[in-house]
Amino acid sequence: MYKCAVILAAGEGKRMKSELPKVLHKVCGKEMVNHVIDTMRAAGLEEVNVIVGKGADKVKEMTSSRQVSYSFQDKQLGTGHAVICAKDFLQGKKGAVAIFTGDAPLIKVETVQSLIKHHEEGGYSAVILTSIMENPQGYGRIIRDAEGVEKIVEHKDCTEEQLLVKEVNAGMYVFDIESLLESLNKLTNDNAQGEYYLTDVIAILKSEGKRVGALTTDFEETLGVNSRVELAVAEQVMRERINKKHMINGVTIIDPKTTYIDSEVEIESDTLIYPGNVLQGKTIIKSGCVIYPNNRIQDSIIEKGVTVQSSVILESSIGENTTVGPYAYIRPESVIGNNARIGDFVEIKKSTIGDNTKVSHLTYIGDAEVGRDCNFGCGTVVVNYDGKKKHKTIIGNNAFIGCNTNLVSPVEVKDNSYIAAGSTITREVPSGSLAIARAKQVNIEGWVNRRNSNK
Ligand code: UD1
Ligand code: CA
Repeated sequence: MYKCAVILAAGEGKRMKSELPKVLHKVCGKEMVNHVIDTMRAAGLEEVNVIVGKGADKVKEMTSSRQVSYSFQDKQLGTGHAVICAKDFLQGKKGAVAIFTGDAPLIKVETVQSLIKHHEEGGYSAVILTSIMENPQGYGRIIRDAEGVEKIVEHKDCTEEQLLVKEVNAGMYVFDIESLLESLNKLTNDNAQGEYYLTDVIAILKSEGKRVGALTTDFEETLGVNSRVELAVAEQVMRERINKKHMINGVTIIDPKTTYIDSEVEIESDTLIYPGNVLQGKTIIKSGCVIYPNNRIQDSIIEKGVTVQSSVILESSIGENTTVGPYAYIRPESVIGNNARIGDFVEIKKSTIGDNTKVSHLTYIGDAEVGRDCNFGCGTVVVNYDGKKKHKTIIGNNAFIGCNTNLVSPVEVKDNSYIAAGSTITREVPSGSLAIARAKQVNIEGWVNRRNSNK
């Protein structure tokens, strides 16, 4: 059977109090709507259509990598109206459509699949996902009769008695496409909010003698995010799931409560993660690494056996068995080789550092290519910026850069050369030579005694 998905993402999300459309707020580093899209795809739905409206351009931009189609809802007249706006997408299709909301990112692939299976096996026109909530405030209530679900009543339209119902509508459904399209024509906005409710489709189908089923799942999965408070709850649930997945895969996480790993981060087994780490974006950490406390690593590749401590690594790669930190700052587009050392208070910007090279302390390297087996003394500065332009520094293999050296770019330091401590290098250092670029020391004999006798 043909199966597709429609995701509702046209609302503004007033309760978020944000410039950003609600569905673009992130949970564990990924926009809520993208969580829902990815889950739909993983559940095997062939086509995904996203209904956009408020902030449509932004929503399209942020979902563009995911090959979805869009419907446009000009005015936000309710969830039923939103689906009416997807008519062009649905018209003429035979099969099932899963309708989910873009503000409920915690739904699991297995649950989507179970809902579809329930729909198929039960021969229903519609199935609703429900959950039981201790505090169902704000959710639509599931009203049951002897045969099953009779209707859904929105919180604001509930009678005193209906408000006591704890079974709520998750806002997630699977419909037979043709039945859905027919009943959408019959929606009215005769309710407390003056909106066209998708939820009214259920009573319409029932009144036509069609079968409506329901499947109940854990309420945690159905949490809709309407405010920043709920966003933080979703974040916490997602974070626990992500950490658990990595632990099951063989990663040791000493304190999952203080370990923040984005959805798309990959970590290989036998890596050890101490508390206070923030691993973001598409970071990949290979096996056997030790991630000591307090790092932020974003969109970077950390090869096997690396240790990192109290450092920031952005859009860079770190070679095998290299050590980073404490207090290193590795900025975008840097490539650090194997068995290297980037020590304390070292900043590397858009530079490559070769294998076995040691940059142990208090050094800045920017826009440079550094070879292998080099040693940087404490306090080296690559002077890459002349106030207008950035220039490049090239250092060969096996160079020894003495402490407190300035390398005024553009400049080249050839293989096997030495630079004396305190030098300001402005010209090429030839291979195999020693460069000294500082004033000669002068000792004035007896100076102290002479000064004292003059007093
Ligand atoms: C909706 C359900 C409610 C359910 C709850 C679960 C209706 C009428 N109510 O209520 O039964 O318990 O979700 O979370 O469906 N949207 C549009 N266009 C619109 C209005 C909304 O695209 O005109 C989108 C929003 O962007 C959002 C989703 O639909 O992603 C849900 O809308 P929201 O206003 O949050 O509905 P709820 O009041 O939460
Ligand atoms: Ca909602």
